[in-house]
Amino acid sequence: MLAQNSRDVSNVLISEEQISAKVKEIGAKITEDFKGEPVLLVGILKGSIAFMADLMRAIDLEDVAIEFMSVSSYGSATKSSGVVKINQDLDCDIRGRNVIIVEDIIDSGLTLAYLKSYLLHRGPKSLKIATMLDKPSRRKSDIKPDYVGFEVEDVFIVGYGLDADQKYRNLPYISWIKS
Ligand code: IMP
Ligand code: MG
Repeated sequence: MLAQNSRDVSNVLISEEQISAKVKEIGAKITEDFKGEPVLLVGILKGSIAFMADLMRAIDLEDVAIEFMSVSSYGSATKSSGVVKINQDLDCDIRGRNVIIVEDIIDSGLTLAYLKSYLLHRGPKSLKIATMLDKPSRRKSDIKPDYVGFEVEDVFIVGYGLDADQKYRNLPYISWIKS
């Protein structure tokens, strides 16, 4: 029986094994694309932390730095408004650097559209986007990720860093809940 207020998250949409194989693939691609160059991974808190932790270890380059930003979009939990509040900004200079934004999921794409132009103003050498999950059917901006784990249907995803009311980030697999 489920405890009060908890939801059934036992259905496995993407397994630990599938996640692990996919992250290795993306890591190998980034390794290939940036051969001999330094890379700065910018994780978007909090959803990206599982992907970030796995992805950085799958990149076989000498100079991989990590930083984090925390953003929240004004609007309800399930609907992004496109206006993004920067709760924690980068405390390093990204001018002339190869920056890869590391995200958990792209839904409307409004958060990343804002973030991308925000960071481009600081003059990075390159700016790419890596996302574990992509919900292209929900897109409201023309954001296209450079590295994608899995495309998912329009369902509410939890696990592997993604939450519902701050719960289920710790699931080692990716599941969904009825919203
Ligand atoms: P966007 O601006 O609509 O692309 O929303 C981006 C953010 O909303 C993501 O980085 C997630 O934090 C959150 N989000 C969007 N879809 C889901 C989902 O299915 N599960 C959990 N969080 C989600
Ligand atoms: Mg997020």
